[in-house]
Amino acid sequence: MKTAIVTGATSGIGRAAALALRDAGYWVLANGRDPARGKEVAEALGSGGTFLGEDLTRAGAPEQVVRTAVDETGRLDVLVNNAGIYVLATTEETGPEELDRLMGINLRAAMLLTRAAIPAMRASGGGVVINVSSEAGLVALPGQVAYNVSKAALLMFSKSLAVDHAGDGIRAVSVCPGTTRTPLVENAIATAEDPAALEHRLTSIRPAKRLGRPEEIAAAIVFAAGDDAGYMTGSELVIDGGYTAM
Ligand SMILES: NC(=O)c1ccc[n+]([C@@H]2O[C@H](COP(=O)([O-])OP(=O)(O)OC[C@H]3O[C@@H](n4cnc5c(N)ncnc54)[C@H](O)[C@@H]3O)[C@@H](O)[C@H]2O)c1
Repeated sequence: MKTAIVTGATSGIGRAAALALRDAGYWVLANGRDPARGKEVAEALGSGGTFLGEDLTRAGAPEQVVRTAVDETGRLDVLVNNAGIYVLATTEETGPEELDRLMGINLRAAMLLTRAAIPAMRASGGGVVINVSSEAGLVALPGQVAYNVSKAALLMFSKSLAVDHAGDGIRAVSVCPGTTRTPLVENAIATAEDPAALEHRLTSIRPAKRLGRPEEIAAAIVFAAGDDAGYMTGSELVIDGGYTAM
């Protein structure tokens, strides 16, 4: 049985990915911060995985997450860097603390967790790193500069990993969701100046005229993780209802 780590797995896309990977036969270590939601995910995973509560920005947390997966199963095959936060702010409005907070989880934690995962993947004969980027990594969505930049950086992180670690049998793929109905998006809508206007804009601007579903993103993650995607590395899967095609 193969082993997968999914970060930010207590909610939204990460939760859907953890369950979809479990259904595809992986043993899943689901990471998140909220113990109550973690318990719920652990129960949903059943014997197909467990939950580890760790704030990934804590020093030592990335190593702890990898160690737990390897202690449980003896191997590591897939890492899904999904945990992320969103800040609605222009460059002028983004202060140093907010910038560090966002980059700390969206980019730095993904890089440090991958750094911790590489030796375990190498020892398992190879692996796959999936970075959950965004349509906002491909085109500049207005008023969310730090988020856009963090997601664009993840695209280059996947490319760099692919180039540096092909020889280790490690692939790296970015998954770029369009706006998907998750707690992150619900919260962004609720805290907008005009929530109804934002929701209307988010759905009407894309050819599909609807938001994505977490399960639709999870399906792409399962594909990217699997052997059928064996020739896919350093590139991205875009699941955005046609938004970036316009
Ligand atoms: N929902 C969308 O429309 C959308 C679109 C494109 C990309 N994304 C990306 O998909 C990913 C998941 O988004 P979502 O919408 O499911 O969000 P969400 O808010 O529902 O879930 C985010 C998860 O990340 C976890 N997390 C945040 N900071 C953490 C930390 N320091 N340590 C450990 N876990 C932490 C949260 O606990 C939560 O489980 C994010 O990277 C997001 O940027 C989402």
